[in-house]
Amino acid sequence: MAKKKKAWSGRFDGQIDAFVEEFTASIPYDVLLYRHDIEGSIAHARMLGKQKIIPQGEANRIAAALAAIREDIEAGKISFDLSQEDVHMAVEQFLTRRLGKIGGKLHTGRSRNDQVALDLRLYLRDSIDDIVLLIAKVKEAILARAEEVFGVVMPGYTHMQRAQPVLFSHHLLAYHEMFSRDQDRFRDARRRANVSPLGAGALAGTTFPVDREFVARELGMEGVCENSIDAVSDRDFAADFLYASAVTMMHLSRLSEEMVYWSSAEFGFLSLPDALCTGSSIMPQKKNPDVPELIRGKTGRTYGNLVNLLTVMKGLPLAYNRDMQEDKEAVFDSARTVKESLIGAALLLRGMTVNEERMRAACDDGFLTATDLSDYLARKGIPFRRAHEIAGKIVRYCEKSGKRLKDLSLREFRSFSRKIGEDVRDFVSLTNSVRMRNVRGGTGPRRVKSRLEALKKP
Ligand code: ARG
Repeated sequence: MAKKKKAWSGRFDGQIDAFVEEFTASIPYDVLLYRHDIEGSIAHARMLGKQKIIPQGEANRIAAALAAIREDIEAGKISFDLSQEDVHMAVEQFLTRRLGKIGGKLHTGRSRNDQVALDLRLYLRDSIDDIVLLIAKVKEAILARAEEVFGVVMPGYTHMQRAQPVLFSHHLLAYHEMFSRDQDRFRDARRRANVSPLGAGALAGTTFPVDREFVARELGMEGVCENSIDAVSDRDFAADFLYASAVTMMHLSRLSEEMVYWSSAEFGFLSLPDALCTGSSIMPQKKNPDVPELIRGKTGRTYGNLVNLLTVMKGLPLAYNRDMQEDKEAVFDSARTVKESLIGAALLLRGMTVNEERMRAACDDGFLTATDLSDYLARKGIPFRRAHEIAGKIVRYCEKSGKRLKDLSLREFRSFSRKIGEDVRDFVSLTNSVRMRNVRGGTGPRRVKSRLEALKKP
């Protein structure tokens, strides 16, 4: 089979080895960049025309043909093949097929090195916009549920042991805070990615009188990279994105883990809707929480993607090295994983049924208000360390006699300290325990309510 001519074949004798062609090609995955590649090329072509680097009429024809190529790709009318090596060469080939010699003028004053850096930046910008919106959906779902279950008390945990009662809304809103910071991290990554490397050429800049700022403006970018070597060498902006993705997945994974065990028979705090679960092929009674399990499981690959890129970049001499072609799959994979996981999380949050009784029942034993008992004693003037010890003894007494704090008589309480009065029982009630934590950021209902209201404002 006759091989197609490569764009760089001028200085080469004979054909490329078939294995090497396949080994070096990025087209099997970088086709995902075709829209961004075309967007960048249209801006570049307009600039070439405006600067009279190529005739304006030809620039216009190139821009129009590129737009038509985009439509054809979208309509499935043209397809890519391995010999094209990468998406950049493929698009250029489609262009020359349409325009002949004129198509060959597009690459004036540009290199694939600055081109690929631009494409990845544009891709990340789009992905980040999608992700920030999807996080907003998750946050909306959290707010809606937090409002709906306002007043429901559950055990808060440390070391996975029942610790202190908290409002379930407060627990949910903790995730809201995390996801807001995740959005910030993505926006921050976007800001750094949204700078144009075009004009850097292969690494040293270009001899043509290009207008770099014009290209950046056309693309809605914030500015241009100030150093041509940096522009084609670094992928820190992609690492920023991978880090933001990894952290978001970490948060989603923790939420998922809670959904998994809260929906178990042992906890029964939640049940997940049938539509989001699957059955077992052998155990007829099973309803498995696959969606949160997979979100939890997919977190691993996003950590891997971050370490992957950091490792690819580590020790690379400036400027472009072919190693950097390996940046793409990590980025594509994390982008897809985060998006899918956010969609799944929003569905789970909206669909879950909250079992208020089970949450409250779990608060009933386990001495969740033992801290309040020591606070009570400290308020009566007993030094906190001593108060803590007395409360500990009371808990031990309860455990031995199979009683809960609220079952103790005043006499029993007073056998541990004469300072204990009739008001102790109210003080150590669940409702009071939560209500008294009226500190900013605490689980006190008034505080939680006002945070809820504040978060609801756009
Ligand atoms: N496919 C390449 C990549 O993804 C494009 C840049 C190629 N540059 C080069 N000098 N071979 O990195």
